Amino acid sequence: MAQHKIFIFDTTLRDGEQVPGCKLNAGEKIELALALENLGVDIIEAGFPVSSPGDFESVENISKVIKNATVCGLTRAIKKDIEVAAAALKKAKRPRIHTGIGVSDLHIKTKFNSNRDEILERAVEAVTYARTFVDDVEFYGEDAGRADLEFLARVVEAVIKAGATVVNIPDTTGYCLPHQYGEKIAYLINNVPNVDKAILSCHCHNDLGLATANSIAGVMNGARQIECTINGLGERAGNTSLEEVVMIIKQHESLGLYTDIKADQLNPISRLVADTMRMPVQPNKAIVGSNAFAHSSGIHQDGFLKNAENYEIIRPEEVGADSSKIVLTARSGRAALAHRFQKLGYNFDRDGIDKLYQAFLKVADVKKEVGDEDLKALAANNHPEVAIA
Ligand code: KIV
Ligand code: ZN
Repeated sequence: MAQHKIFIFDTTLRDGEQVPGCKLNAGEKIELALALENLGVDIIEAGFPVSSPGDFESVENISKVIKNATVCGLTRAIKKDIEVAAAALKKAKRPRIHTGIGVSDLHIKTKFNSNRDEILERAVEAVTYARTFVDDVEFYGEDAGRADLEFLARVVEAVIKAGATVVNIPDTTGYCLPHQYGEKIAYLINNVPNVDKAILSCHCHNDLGLATANSIAGVMNGARQIECTINGLGERAGNTSLEEVVMIIKQHESLGLYTDIKADQLNPISRLVADTMRMPVQPNKAIVGSNAFAHSSGIHQDGFLKNAENYEIIRPEEVGADSSKIVLTARSGRAALAHRFQKLGYNFDRDGIDKLYQAFLKVADVKKEVGDEDLKALAANNHPEVAIA
């Protein structure tokens, strides 16, 4: 059923690392790059080599150790940037230069004080120049999400003619709605005559919480690469979450898509990135949050205990998470309480649980979560005839 591979372009070490407080040292960058390769990402965007000597060195070091993935360096559409990126990527087995320029009228006027024709010329020059160093050149049209569609199509056609192997369509400000982003990709697929000579890539930011939905809309309409980060780290509200798009593609076989990501590495790498980048993951984060497989309300707990599939669409072990948790709170029911007592080694009948349940609710109303020690105390107080397990 799965026919089309979606290339996973990880930019945790570039767009993710731009986040204040997430700066990595050279050793940390290498450790994460190796973990990303092990995860199965196709492309690692290792940094922006011209931005600092440290970043140059990191891209250079990562290029030396990565064996299978493509290593990519970011540049602006500036000759010096491209030369520096090419030098940093010299030892890479599969080097890619990622160059580009703003293509929305807002960026053209207020960032570059320029016009569409000049920007088009600079885009073509940058790609042509980058191709003199490497065979694999990705072009990004910054703020493509808000760019004029006909102009964007002209740019895409021109950069592919100049040798771009991948064309990135960033929704830099996270502005698009999913159907708009999908239609943008579909328009390019249908209106750029040489589009079959390159891969279109989705690079979506999360300012409206739509990065994942937009990336999926992009690949449903013909894009074949997603740019994303572990835990959705990135500028402002972040980038597309790698773990989310990978699991959406895996769960929805009817999309006819697949990735080469080893899903059981998703939670371990999420923890590694969170610790190394000092950026904790919100508990309710899809796939990798600490509550992603926790059940706390009575209705859900009862249904989950009867059949896990009632309330879980992914098995935790599939994504390398700890096993599902039943959290005992004031919203929990008798089924969950009986289950936990059983796990602790007690065997109360229905009446026994009924008696304990009232006492449990009193504790639960005071405490946020009722733990095993609380339960043992409840058992001892309410059923002194039962030996403590
Ligand atoms: O968000 C963006 O437009 C970018 C580009 C530099 C690819 O990160
Ligand atoms: Zn970005």
